[in-house]
Amino acid sequence: MKIERRDFIRDLTLAGSAALLAPKTMYAQAADSRVEILINEPIGPVNPNIYSHFVEHLGGVVYDGIWVGEKSKIANYGGIRKDLVDNLKKLKPGVIRYPGGCFADQYDWRDGIGPRDKRPSRVNFWADTTYKAPKSYQEVTSGPQKYEPNWFGTDEFINLCKLTGAQPYMAANLRSFGVAEFMQWLEYCNAPAGMTTLSSQRATNASKDPYNVSFWGVGNESWGCGGEFTPEEYATEYRKYVAWLPTYGTKLQLIGAGPNGGDLGWTRRFFTKLTEKGMGQLNRMYGWALHYYCHTTGKGNASEYDVNEWYDLLMRSDRMDGLIREHWQVMGEIDREHRVKLVVDEWGAWHWQDADMPPAYLYAYAGTLRDALISGINLDTFQRHADKVVMANPAQLVNTIHSLFHTYEDKFVLTPNYHVFEMYMPHAGATAVRTQFTSPEVSFSRFDAQRKEIPTKFWGLQGSASINGKTVTLTAVNPDAKNARESEINIGRARIVAAEARVLSSTDIRARNTFENPNALVPRNENVSVGTGGRLVYKFAPASVTRLTLTIA
Ligand code: AHR
Repeated sequence: MKIERRDFIRDLTLAGSAALLAPKTMYAQAADSRVEILINEPIGPVNPNIYSHFVEHLGGVVYDGIWVGEKSKIANYGGIRKDLVDNLKKLKPGVIRYPGGCFADQYDWRDGIGPRDKRPSRVNFWADTTYKAPKSYQEVTSGPQKYEPNWFGTDEFINLCKLTGAQPYMAANLRSFGVAEFMQWLEYCNAPAGMTTLSSQRATNASKDPYNVSFWGVGNESWGCGGEFTPEEYATEYRKYVAWLPTYGTKLQLIGAGPNGGDLGWTRRFFTKLTEKGMGQLNRMYGWALHYYCHTTGKGNASEYDVNEWYDLLMRSDRMDGLIREHWQVMGEIDREHRVKLVVDEWGAWHWQDADMPPAYLYAYAGTLRDALISGINLDTFQRHADKVVMANPAQLVNTIHSLFHTYEDKFVLTPNYHVFEMYMPHAGATAVRTQFTSPEVSFSRFDAQRKEIPTKFWGLQGSASINGKTVTLTAVNPDAKNARESEINIGRARIVAAEARVLSSTDIRARNTFENPNALVPRNENVSVGTGGRLVYKFAPASVTRLTLTIA
């Protein structure tokens, strides 16, 4: 069954160029593209935590995206929006990261426990931000989005995790607190009831059973809002935070505040300083958190863009692939056995807040088909690097940036991102295998500051594949706004006996779901016929994310 790489390249070149050069009449189906799924070249298991989420006290995420209150007329489970729970649960979420983001580095976890009416109110970290915040947001002078009432805290968050089947991932405050508060939070969450004052308090407040929180972030973006540290200063802090922690029987998986996009210096200098006291320090780090957002240029509007802006943003989102490779390589210069893995705990497309969103919902916009393709591009990238990436969390779950849901009062809608997560579910826990995509590139124009045109090219088809028993799942993105990609799909010498497709696409590249029209963009299932001898030629729709489920003999 093993297909040799040399044979594969030769076959690919001969068959590919023959198909590309042959007159249309020569083949019933003259494919212009090819996908090779190399099932004998496993990359590694796809960690289900690649399908994780992120919740921060920012804009409309917590209030009222998640927390509506027990007495609300909006259907809820103990104050948590029912629609959100029911739909998130269907995605089998890996972990949920909380409470930030930048918010985490000014948060006192003790504010968010105990009787709700006794909890203090505080100025939210984001209250005064001017970063990408429209005037309408700056003019908001009241409400839980600006003045944190602490109605949703540790116990409510753990309840959200329990309701949805996700594992909690908490981010400790490193900038404005110390190790003592971190250890006390850990104790509140994980110590058995009755062992200490704090664990008894937890039992009284919410749960006799410990929460067994395993994932802990040690600060967030410590190069920026998390304290403006140098990598050397942060490494010293990190060592201090993670030394000699009590476990209460739960294996702690500690995550370091990694780089801002392509800042390789942050990674190199941190690892150099961390290991100054010996390589054993690497055993106290599970993951290194990489953050990368693709930002829209120009007006930065989420749903008004031309075809050049469409390609431009897709190409920016594809930078994730290079970032993973580059940071992994730098980490390996010091951590030669790659004990520490990558955690991409903030990713997504960041546009300007939509004018028709509630002003207090900072960074809220209705995602479009473009965002859905960006989800596909990123999830495929993580799977192609399943040996390196153990967790990934789009920012954020609801009502801000790259969300899966939008809410307003009792209204609720699934965004196109949600549908991509649903489509990619079969990859979780399967074994990622290498793929080779060959396809004509798409051409478009970028413009420099002087509006001078820069002709640019981007790949024509890309994706990832995984295998689980006799089922091969192939997911792919066709960025071409106009043209389908007719592709021959091969799985070495394995024979395809059945195929099904699930497709998210639209003739309108700006398609999106709204409260009035929630099903404007939803995936559709397609029957796919397999030719004699298991030959499969599939046409990937223009501007699409596709999942092919292939049964092999
Ligand atoms: O997701 C929004 C913010 O982006 C997060 O709080 C921060 O970590 C990042 O800069």
